[in-house]
Amino acid sequence: DKGNHRHFMEKEIHEQPEVISHTLANYLDFATGGVKLFETPIDFAKIDRLYISACGTAYLAGLIGKYWLERYARLPVDIDIASEFRYRELPIVPNSAALFVSQSGETADTLASLRYCKNAGIPIAAIVNVRDSTIARESNGIFPTLAGPEIGVASTKAFTCQLSIFASLAIRAGLDRGTLTREDAAAMVRSLSEVPGLIRDALKLESRIEAIARKLSEVRHVLYLGRDTNYPLALEGALKLKEISYIHAEGYAAGELKHGPIALIDKHMPVIVLAPSDRIFEKTVSNMQEVAARGGRIILITDEEGASRTSLDNIETIIMPKVPEFVAPIVYALPIQLLAYHTAVAMGTDVDQPRNLAKSVTVE
Ligand code: F6R
Repeated sequence: DKGNHRHFMEKEIHEQPEVISHTLANYLDFATGGVKLFETPIDFAKIDRLYISACGTAYLAGLIGKYWLERYARLPVDIDIASEFRYRELPIVPNSAALFVSQSGETADTLASLRYCKNAGIPIAAIVNVRDSTIARESNGIFPTLAGPEIGVASTKAFTCQLSIFASLAIRAGLDRGTLTREDAAAMVRSLSEVPGLIRDALKLESRIEAIARKLSEVRHVLYLGRDTNYPLALEGALKLKEISYIHAEGYAAGELKHGPIALIDKHMPVIVLAPSDRIFEKTVSNMQEVAARGGRIILITDEEGASRTSLDNIETIIMPKVPEFVAPIVYALPIQLLAYHTAVAMGTDVDQPRNLAKSVTVE
């Protein structure tokens, strides 16, 4: 049932404040600022390395998870696309564990990667949305996302719930490994507790985003740029746009611009920049200047402070609420989902059932 919404995707985008609250409540105690003693098959204090593997949007959630686990828990993470992981014959080191991410829990390549790790004898955990799925059953333990059924082929609420779990695991792992103090952890839990409200604020930008999307529906190619945890989000923005609007889009780490993609920039090429005002904001601004100098059209997704620190011609801005740096990728997922959604609606594509795609990819 779509309720008042035109598409399941729109409904699922709007459900995010609620399902993220539910998901976080499994792991965090907002009253005390602590982490709940949830069951985990992975002993974060003891392992030297974590292997993460998944496909598509779930893989991109894992990539953000890697940034967080390495930064806050000093835990080295290897991450692969599951279709590569399963065949590349990598050595599994001792004292390691594996974590798989899947909305459906049935993705063939992810399941094959899981079995590869199981064969190697290491503990297996999965972040899954469907609790009675094959991946859930074959894992030693699961971290369930409480997103509820996701019907739209383009993943939205499952993605932000996966990110919420990765953020919680980074805090848990940081405490277990002694890289975070109780105070650090409490501050991070506080940031996460603000996420549902910040997403509600971001949803208020929908009509502004819709106006920008109408113009985007007239172009052939789009580039997304971001740094740090906004880099995987740039990849996710491009994936979402191409899936449902069929516009060719690519995501790049902003610092890679001058190593190739800058050659594409001209007045026909919109560049969507994901840049909350944070410690590396200035670096991204200099990449934007390079785009502007070549006549590129910039759509900057930032906050008030970020907007006031940029003065460029030919720029449109989407002004987000100020978001704590740690949780920024969860909140900044909203404008990229809405931008893809409204672009597809403007183009008249089948948003919930885009051509050539299946919700659950059970063959390789
Ligand atoms: C993108 C999308 C796909 C899935 C991928 C993995 O919007 O939905 O890229 O993320 O097929 O699916 P799951 O998470 O079910 O393993």
